[in-house]
Amino acid sequence: MEAAAPQNPAEPPPAANSVELTVTSAEQMRELGRRLAKLVRAGDLLLLSGELGAGKTTLTRGLGEGLGVRGAVTSPTFVIARVHPSLGDGPPLVHVDAYRLSGGLDEMEDLDLDVSLPESVIAVEWGEGKVEELTDDRLRIVIHRAVGDTSDEVRRVTVTGLGERWAGTGLSALTA
Ligand SMILES: Nc1ncnc2c1ncn2[C@@H]1O[C@H](COP(=O)(O)OP(=O)(O)OP(=O)(O)O)[C@@H](O)[C@H]1O
Ligand SMILES: [Mg+2]
Repeated sequence: MEAAAPQNPAEPPPAANSVELTVTSAEQMRELGRRLAKLVRAGDLLLLSGELGAGKTTLTRGLGEGLGVRGAVTSPTFVIARVHPSLGDGPPLVHVDAYRLSGGLDEMEDLDLDVSLPESVIAVEWGEGKVEELTDDRLRIVIHRAVGDTSDEVRRVTVTGLGERWAGTGLSALTA
């Protein structure tokens, strides 16, 4: 075992596998979600961050389409997590909006989702600092609006694979 270098827990680990993309419409954001669906598998955690209206739910909707799950992904007002079962034999999508989740993981376990998280693909909006303890392996997706112009549809998206799960998985399929 190699000795781990001292590290600030707030910083992402080094040697991350990362791509940066420009997305110019909501439809393209969905397409990015559909591409992501080809890369993910059961047990994967996707952490989505970005300001209100950045496009986190739009991306997750495309992910759900690509995974072939039941029900359109929406941003429900009073529901923290929703399970979208697969219409085929793939993993279900668990879509979590952690905006109102103050207690972190414990609270999420208390949601009593009728699904096994290790057998699901889990996409969490507003999950930074709340659900990392679920796994070291995660796909961190940060969406930024183009600064200054609120009517602009342009988004910068950074997708970073963290942990062993993503060390050997190229993300270049997302940029093609
Ligand atoms: N390039 C783009 N990518 C994604 N959404 C876009 C883009 N351009 C415009 N939009 C619009 O911006 C809105 C994004 O809303 P969405 O619910 O996906 O954001 P969100 O990040 O989930 O917000 P919240 O923080 O409230 O959950 C949608 O109305 C979408 O049509
Ligand atoms: Mg949302």
